[in-house]
Amino acid sequence: MKSRRPSRYHRRPRPKAPPAPVLEPGQTEFEFGIPIAGIIVSKEHWTQCALKQIPEPKPVDWTGVFGRQAPLVVDIGCGNGRFTLASAVARPELNHLAIDSLPAVIRYGTRRANQRGLNHVKFAVVDGWRFLTELCSEESIAEIHIYHPQPYADPVASSRRMLTPEFIGWMHRSLIPQGKIYLQTDRKAYWDYLCGNLPKLFDWNELEGDWPQGPEFRSRREILSRKQGLVIHRGYGIRREGISAEEFQQNIQAMEQPTFAIEPDES
Ligand SMILES: C[S@@+](CC[C@H](N)C(=O)[O-])C[C@H]1O[C@@H](n2cnc3c(N)ncnc32)[C@H](O)[C@@H]1O
Repeated sequence: MKSRRPSRYHRRPRPKAPPAPVLEPGQTEFEFGIPIAGIIVSKEHWTQCALKQIPEPKPVDWTGVFGRQAPLVVDIGCGNGRFTLASAVARPELNHLAIDSLPAVIRYGTRRANQRGLNHVKFAVVDGWRFLTELCSEESIAEIHIYHPQPYADPVASSRRMLTPEFIGWMHRSLIPQGKIYLQTDRKAYWDYLCGNLPKLFDWNELEGDWPQGPEFRSRREILSRKQGLVIHRGYGIRREGISAEEFQQNIQAMEQPTFAIEPDES
């Protein structure tokens, strides 16, 4: 008979999130006591930031989706969108796309962007892999942000880790010359993996402390991790130029697959 004992990797179901507070125009919204960027606008100025249907043909014409030509910033695995909202409020001159494979979190982010009247932000339920391989063309993204990629500590699920050598290659392909990746995690094993592999295609910089530019708390997961006293690892990479097609393939092949072990409670 199969044991019913939960695996040590099995997470207890989280309590349901409380209903979203009703916010008045002019108000600032808080999460865990930390403000979420932007001011709530009156209902007649709310926008429609949900990208419910991915337009054809593919790869997508993102300039057409946003209705204007501007550098594209993409937040992959955006969760509730805290980073995208902060970046979009601070840098209105850039187009912002936030994607996540989980519809529930995209609903939170979309509602917040709508209520702030942002019209240069889109939220979509899209898998990161599908996005890079099918939906965006070569040299089309200015910045890729990934905060706290899902660690998949359970070895059975570890093959679902997003940042594989191939994914790193697709990020390089999708970025414009001098395009940048921004990464952050509280999982040391994931971080060591990234620091070992990203320099093959990016000029990679590990940061000592916090990001030089705000916001201080980039994401919901960062807030929770810091409350638990976990160490946050941060870094950014600039796309390396002048790599031949052959060298590109060799560099990808020289990278390890992300099969490292992560303890469920690893700090
Ligand atoms: C640990 S959460 C971090 C969320 C947010 N970036 C933060 O720091 O608060 C990881 C997020 O990545 C999403 N995710 C996992 N695999 C993904 C994939 N292949 N494509 C897109 N999103 C993914 C999950 O649904 C989840 O919302």
